[in-house]
Amino acid sequence: MRDFNPNDDAVFPEGYSPQETLDDISPEIPNQLLDFILRSGPTEEVIDTDLFAVMKKRRSTRKFSDKPVETVKIDKIIAAADTAPTAGNFQGFEIFYVKGLEKKNALIDACNHQSYVDAPVVLIFCKNPSRVKLNFPPYILRKFAIQDATLAAGYSQLAAQALGLSSIWIGMFDEQKIMDILQTDLVPSSVLCIGYPKQTKFPKPRRNLKDLVNVVW
Ligand SMILES: Cc1cc2nc3c(=O)[nH]c(=O)nc-3n(C[C@H](O)[C@H](O)[C@H](O)COP(=O)(O)O)c2cc1C
Repeated sequence: MRDFNPNDDAVFPEGYSPQETLDDISPEIPNQLLDFILRSGPTEEVIDTDLFAVMKKRRSTRKFSDKPVETVKIDKIIAAADTAPTAGNFQGFEIFYVKGLEKKNALIDACNHQSYVDAPVVLIFCKNPSRVKLNFPPYILRKFAIQDATLAAGYSQLAAQALGLSSIWIGMFDEQKIMDILQTDLVPSSVLCIGYPKQTKFPKPRRNLKDLVNVVW
């Protein structure tokens, strides 16, 4: 087993590594790393650990404060995405963590001129059907990849809320423009903008249960 090096590109992408790493973590066991990320950091920063309370309180935010998001929180948001179920566990998605201001500004244009896309943390969830090694036609693999990417983004969005952050899910964008900005062949599924909200708002109401649930006998 080779020595663990926190700066090893084989473990962490260039430009991003978790805030804290344990010397005895083996990169050969990815779940061990994830487990550590989920446990790491100042737990008192975690606002809510009750899943239903987190869901109940979540409200989209389009106005973010300038307060930077702590790396340990970004770690957990990314780690949360990695816990989402995926088709065949092939993890048919990738996350682009956009840090550069120039790229964020370009994303505003790619997202139909939505000015808040330059949020403190911008994560773009892309589909990667080529990862899904299941014996189904390509259109099925594409369907799996979009579900994988969407579910992962949803997990990240809830994690952000649990950590006292707020977010806005962006679905209105020009796919090709985003792919050009990211310089990737992977098609984006959603853009998740995260930060501290300028103002905390109440959740929006939802429809009546009778209009939501269709009982089938
Ligand atoms: C698939 C999808 C696409 C969305 N696209 C956008 C978008 O492009 N721009 C935006 O400001 N909000 C977007 N939203 C956020 C919704 O407007 C928001 O979630 C909705 O109004 C419900 O509010 P809530 O999240 O506070 O409950 C999108 C949400 C989803 C799930």
